[in-house]
Amino acid sequence: MILEDKSIFTQAVHGGERGPRPDFTPVSTPISHSVGYLYDEMADLDAVFAGERAGYVYTRYGSPTVTAFEQAMAVLEDADDAVAFSSGMAAIHAALLGAGVRAGSTVVSAADVYGATYSLLEKGLGPLGVKVRFVNITDVDQVQRVVSEEQPAAVLCEIISNPLLKVADVPALADIARAGGAALIVDNTFATPYLFRPLEHGADYVVHSATKYLGGHGDVMAGVVACGAARAQELRERQKLLGANLGPQEAWLALRGLKTLPLRMRQHCANAQVVASWLVTQPAVVHVNYPGLTGHAQHGLAARLFSGRGYGGMVSFDVRNATQSDVFRFMEALELVLPATTLGDVYSLTLYPAHSSHRYVTPEVRAALGIGDGLVRLSVGIEEAEDIIGDLAQALELVA
Ligand SMILES: Cc1ncc(COP(=O)(O)O)c(C=O)c1O
Repeated sequence: MILEDKSIFTQAVHGGERGPRPDFTPVSTPISHSVGYLYDEMADLDAVFAGERAGYVYTRYGSPTVTAFEQAMAVLEDADDAVAFSSGMAAIHAALLGAGVRAGSTVVSAADVYGATYSLLEKGLGPLGVKVRFVNITDVDQVQRVVSEEQPAAVLCEIISNPLLKVADVPALADIARAGGAALIVDNTFATPYLFRPLEHGADYVVHSATKYLGGHGDVMAGVVACGAARAQELRERQKLLGANLGPQEAWLALRGLKTLPLRMRQHCANAQVVASWLVTQPAVVHVNYPGLTGHAQHGLAARLFSGRGYGGMVSFDVRNATQSDVFRFMEALELVLPATTLGDVYSLTLYPAHSSHRYVTPEVRAALGIGDGLVRLSVGIEEAEDIIGDLAQALELVA
């Protein structure tokens, strides 16, 4: 379009836009902010709408930067496809709907899951007519019994649970789910594909809060579901209607995070092993939960299932005989380790589950799960392990 003879109003709107199609390829994925897409012929646009040719029509239906992140996740999770969402919670919700959870159906879920996942099931889906049975996911016989009783649409677990770091026997759960006609949804947020790829062990859906290790820098909120092609197609069709899409800026940040995921995870795992081993020796600490410790109830299972590269960056422990205010004093005294409500960042972070991640879970349920007043969750960052230990030591002295 010639702009020289147009008004400044028109020039301001169209100047610089839609130059010739490039014959070069950018090395790194650009951020495509455009919401709409043009084709030379309307028939092409029509064909894209109809799904007869690849392309983009409208960002809620898909966009190039988001596709790049999805394709990277499909590769990392060894999946046919992956579908990105605006948060981990949106991804979990989508996977539950994809698994066929509807009014009248049942979900069998690990009781020890992220508090919002627990609440989504109980308070979000419960009133819509979905029955939820919470189980001890480490008791495979119990899961088997409940699945036989309920014939659920879905079985849901975290590969490493938040915040008690229990490890789920995904191959055994996959057998149980398959025999019971249920889809198995595995939240792989804590392990990441660096340690474990649930689809290779029989899971039907892998979900992530990409806000955590995948993004890795505490600056992006995102979620993703990786699964088979037909399931992914169904998720995309529903996403067009529900609209919990990932934005292009966020997809770009998440994609950038993936590039250093293995490097960061290597350091997270090494640091967490050192920090957890040190915590065990501290008189002010009891019940150190870390799958890399030989005393962990599922250490053998984790060693068998995981890639051999470590046991993740998450640790939790109880401050001995501590009240909430003791733990708050400990957390406030930390200088390097930040008391921030997230995990999986390059920074070391602590969180008090009883007042944050599990705030909306009743005190009775928290107590039954083992989330007591003294429990601290620690996301071990990629700083020098000795510096993390030094900071924990000086803060623990206050409550010893
Ligand atoms: C294991 C796990 N899954 C899912 C979520 C939810 O993710 P998001 O906060 O990105 O919605 C979280 C959040 O902390 C989590 O820890």
